[in-house]
Parts: sequence; structure tokens; C-alpha cells
Amino acid sequence: MKKFFVSGVCFFVIASASLVAAADRVSLPKGYENWEKSRQKVVTDKKSLFYGIHYTYVDKKAMPAFKSGGNYAEGSQFVVVQYNIREEGGRPVEGKKNMIVLMKKGKKYKDTGGWLYAGFGPDGKISGIDPVKNCYQCHLKEAKSTDFVISKYSDFE
Ligand code: HEC
Repeated sequence: MKKFFVSGVCFFVIASASLVAAADRVSLPKGYENWEKSRQKVVTDKKSLFYGIHYTYVDKKAMPAFKSGGNYAEGSQFVVVQYNIREEGGRPVEGKKNMIVLMKKGKKYKDTGGWLYAGFGPDGKISGIDPVKNCYQCHLKEAKSTDFVISKYSDFE
């Protein structure tokens, strides 16, 4: 069975179960809703890969490097929660949650620049993504110089 999520921050293919293996035991970090949260980001261009509304959460470990622009400590984490867009009185507002993505710094994730990449459905269940093809390649292209983190601290201030 194949499912496609075309959405805001991240675009990826939820492929067959064979891809799940590596990410199998990964789950969303508890209490990420209480981490420092970005401003709302709205992308209204339907042609954009980033169409949707999202918020980014950053944990305490990641904060020093996030502020200075690189070299994250082991265990640093980022979570993005992505919603569909609904129009309300001509204004874009949050629709249904459509996915959650996680990055966690860890030396063992050598194929993906030292970060775990994982995608989850709106119910928090892990989805079977290929972290190299569907995540890392874009982060590598966009943010090699900031340890593959694309968001900016200025989105939080
Ligand atoms: C086509 C490019 C692209 C792909 C593919 C992609 N991302 Fe991202 N990602 C982005 C952009 C752009 C941002 C910054 C969004 C913002 O400015 O708020 C981002 C932000 C993030 C963040 C917040 C930390 C950061 O780097 O800013 C996480 C976590 C994340 N993505 C995880 C993933 C995961 C997991 C996947 C694979 C399922 C993935 N991404 C695939 C472009 C991509």
C-alpha cells in the first residue's frame, strides 16, 4: 500500500513496510509541545512543496547551537508539526494536522549527516519513510553549513 503526503515543510512518500525497518523503534519525544516554539509559518502557494501551516519546536539541548548556527550536541532535537490550510473569511487558518517530523542528533546516523530523520502521521504513528531520499537530501542541499538545520532562530524571537 502506498500513501502520498504532499504538504508543507516536507514532502515525502510513505512507502511500503520494507522502508520502516530502520526507524521502527523511534517515537515522538514526550512533551515536545512544551519546548520553545516558533511563530506560525504559513505558505499559501499551492504549487509550493511547503504549502501549509507549521510550527517548529526546539529542545533545550539544541538551543545553544541553534542560536549560534551549527555544531549540535548529541541528542539535540527538532519537531515540526504541520497542518493543512483552510480558508476562513479569506484568511488562511489551520486545518487538520497532517504530519509531524523529527530530527534528533546522533553520531550513529552516519548516512544522514549525524541526524535521525523520522516522519509521523497526525496520530503520532511512525511512517515508513526513507530518511536519505525523502529527508536528508533536501536538508543537505539547503543547510549544509548549519549542521543541516534549515530553520532560523529569528523565527522564534
Ligand atoms: C524538499 C525539502 C525538504 C524535505 C524533502 C524535507 N525537509 Fe525538513 N525542512 C525543510 C525546510 C525548508 C525546513 C524549514 C521550515 C521552516 O522554515 O520553518 C525544514 C525543517 C525541518 C525540521 C526542523 C529543523 C530544521 O531543519 O529546520 C525538521 C525536524 C525536519 N525538517 C524534518 C524532516 C524530515 C524527518 C524529513 C523527511 C520525512 C524532511 N524534513 C524532509 C525542507 C525539507
